[in-house]
Amino acid sequence: MPEIKLTSTYEWEALQKHYNKVKNLHLRDLFKEPDRFNQLSLKVGDIFLDYSKNRVTNSTMKLLFDLAESSRVQDFAWGMFNGQKINWTENRSVLHTALRNQSSEPVFVDEQDVMPDIRAVLSRIQSFSQRVRDGSWQGSTGKPIKHVVHIGIGGSDLGPRMVCEALQGYADGPQIHFVSNIDPCDLEKTLKIIKAEESLFIIASKTFTTQETLTNAHGARDWVVAQLGEGAIVKHFVALSTNLEEVANFGIDQENCFGFWDFVGGRYSVWSAIGLPIAISLGYENFSDLLKGANEMDLHFSKAPITENMPVILALLEIWYNNFFNAESHGLLPYSEYLRLFPSYLQQGDMESNGKRIDRDGDPVDYQTGPIVWGQTGTNGQHAFYQLIHQGTKLIPCDFIGFCKPMCSSEQLQKQHHILMSHFFAQTRALAFGLTTEEVRENMNNAQIDEQHIKRLVPHKTFEGNKPTNTILIDQLNPKSLGSLIALYEHKIFTQGIIWRINSFDQWGVELGKVLAKEILSDINSGSKGDYDQSTAGLLSIYR
Ligand code: F6P
Repeated sequence: MPEIKLTSTYEWEALQKHYNKVKNLHLRDLFKEPDRFNQLSLKVGDIFLDYSKNRVTNSTMKLLFDLAESSRVQDFAWGMFNGQKINWTENRSVLHTALRNQSSEPVFVDEQDVMPDIRAVLSRIQSFSQRVRDGSWQGSTGKPIKHVVHIGIGGSDLGPRMVCEALQGYADGPQIHFVSNIDPCDLEKTLKIIKAEESLFIIASKTFTTQETLTNAHGARDWVVAQLGEGAIVKHFVALSTNLEEVANFGIDQENCFGFWDFVGGRYSVWSAIGLPIAISLGYENFSDLLKGANEMDLHFSKAPITENMPVILALLEIWYNNFFNAESHGLLPYSEYLRLFPSYLQQGDMESNGKRIDRDGDPVDYQTGPIVWGQTGTNGQHAFYQLIHQGTKLIPCDFIGFCKPMCSSEQLQKQHHILMSHFFAQTRALAFGLTTEEVRENMNNAQIDEQHIKRLVPHKTFEGNKPTNTILIDQLNPKSLGSLIALYEHKIFTQGIIWRINSFDQWGVELGKVLAKEILSDINSGSKGDYDQSTAGLLSIYR
């Protein structure tokens, strides 16, 4: 029996009616409720969320929670945690949560407990990372490893790259480099600054068939073999993959391959062997703390009631803007230079997961699904695109992520953290409450500006306000809090996928471009004109 369409459900229609009633409410009025901050904020482990600066009333939240209930978010979450094949287009379980399972409970896929294999790989990561760090793993000429080059793309790159960048304050191992782009400059710029005999290459690819990764890996292999000979591969190359056969075809010893499984999606794989560079750079204990932090959020997500469930609340608020206010995008604004890659990491996490238009019944949806996720660090963004968020014509809900403690070690520089955080608090305040025409006028009068100027400038200097934000405030950026933060967004994305009735865990939309590129490459190499539309044919003739 096909399900009744989402937009025809009682809960959706109730939200639509409610929206028509409250759409013009202003945060200035909503904040007249004295207890709003306490009511609309919560803490889970290291993560504090203030969602009071959203255009919601208690009734809005109640209707949104009803939507989550009727969408059976918690049943589906139970299915995910327990190995059900919720990735139905690929017939796969979705078990990144098992990778960070801290309990001794089994997790079954096809009646087989996956935990012993997961623990075995973790233990190999622990001993291998330790050997590279303490110098007992040596290159083919007996030198310790000073540089680790991680070659991967998409989910096999963004996670470890973002975490190594975010936790660089904890890095005390070899220097880690990341190469992902098929643009030959990416590999070349790294090879220029390292020495083959002191370098270890990690080839990270779930499928071990991805053209970009394999091409860069062959480039690196040729470079090492030219200097150290074929026999050096065993000491300078390791693989992270589910495809042991292709790893062997590449020439990497099975002993040097760290496996994972098809129940781990690429964009959810940072917790698997794909995290090896994190363990090498920061030490296994810190990698393990990252997993513990994520597990803390898993426990919260799977156990907390919907009304107090942080990932569910974030998911529902975004649905409120995305589907009722027609907001098209969502800003992620970390106030930490070390979290500079967090927006790009979550761009893949969110947009590859929820950029879908076909629902569970195989029908096109008649509502908006995943938003455009974008952002960059504050305060840099303030001097670039915040103008549009404050005074433009688009509604852009944003998440502000900040930390109470600075990450820099110099006491002298730590004082700057207060300046950073003053901007963090000022921005959400300005976005919510704006500056009225009367206030602008009064300020200008006080500054003794003449009436002619005041009249001309008042509309330009007025801030409408009523721009919604979430504030995520964390004591400190450390492995555990980062693990929780990533898992928070993973479960938010999951919740939205369930409510929008799409499969968040496949990515068919990336396939067509790959197939067409193969055809074009073959024609470029052979000099054939091929059979193309006139635009592509014209462009190719210029390129050749
Ligand atoms: O871009 C599509 C994609 O399949 C991503 O989902 C994945 O993270 C990336 O390519 C890399 O794939 P692989 O790890 O198999 O090389």
